[in-house]
Amino acid sequence: MPEDHSQPEAPTEPLDVETLDAGEVFAQAAALAQHLQQAGVQWLPQPNAEEVESLTMHFQSVTASPSEAAGNLATNQQPEVDQQPSSPASREIGTSPPRATETVSPPVDSSGNYLPVIDGPYSGSNLSDSQRSNYLAELADQVASCERCPQLTRNRNHTVFGEGSVQPRVVFFGEAPGADEDRTGRPFVGAAGQLLTKMIEACKFSREEVYILNTIKCRPPNNRNPELEERANCRDYYRRQLDTLRPEYIVCLGAVAAQELLQSKVSVGSLRGKFHRYHDSKVLVTYHPAYLLREPTRKAAAWQDLQLMLRDAQIDF
Ligand code: URA
Repeated sequence: MPEDHSQPEAPTEPLDVETLDAGEVFAQAAALAQHLQQAGVQWLPQPNAEEVESLTMHFQSVTASPSEAAGNLATNQQPEVDQQPSSPASREIGTSPPRATETVSPPVDSSGNYLPVIDGPYSGSNLSDSQRSNYLAELADQVASCERCPQLTRNRNHTVFGEGSVQPRVVFFGEAPGADEDRTGRPFVGAAGQLLTKMIEACKFSREEVYILNTIKCRPPNNRNPELEERANCRDYYRRQLDTLRPEYIVCLGAVAAQELLQSKVSVGSLRGKFHRYHDSKVLVTYHPAYLLREPTRKAAAWQDLQLMLRDAQIDF
């Protein structure tokens, strides 16, 4: 039997992730991306935000001293160095959705802390409960016939508008519907939804007392992350919902929701642990329940985030 030489030899040393230099890895990745773009590559794969987050935390804890690492986790104030500009989408109800390419730099204060982009009161008037219900029902009808994203429209069974109280103290803002949500037309009804329900109940609310919605209303194929253009196409819908609901608190679940609402490129690890603002609402960022199912050790951190809100809201827990 002749030897098979077609397989490359295995490396003699296994890759030791603990000894990798984070700065060097990031620099090499940036150089590779630049090289590919110069060579004419038009499309580069999008990183999975939760995995990036996980690796960033890993490198922080490998490269920082234990006290620095703990400090980073506790304060979470530093914006990422290579922030991309983000979009100040139109606030006018009834205008066409902003283009994904509109950009502005997020402001940073003199200590380098990230400042919320979106401030000022909610637009429009504060509606009564019945006006809110009627307006949201009309908007849900518009969403049901929306065809702004051809790929999502083609593949969907149901749009997932959102549901809950029209007078909520807290809104939970997720990423995008999955298979269970697409099948039922309701947000967060699958495995991640069951964990979200537990998180809501730990905050002493029922699902009916809060409101739950997502950045986009249709399921992306294979549960991929929503694309920037899809987020921009759907922005006007969730913004109208929030203008109507004007909750005291918005809890962003995961990087996509947080970065979309705050129009930021900053990681969840850096956004969590403090309040941001979206018009009149205080915004809290925490991990997505689907991520918590994969990384249960992060549940304690998520519970700390929720406790920040509960103490601020003077809710006994
Ligand atoms: N994940 C989300 O982000 N939203 C849902 O509605 C379901 C799962």
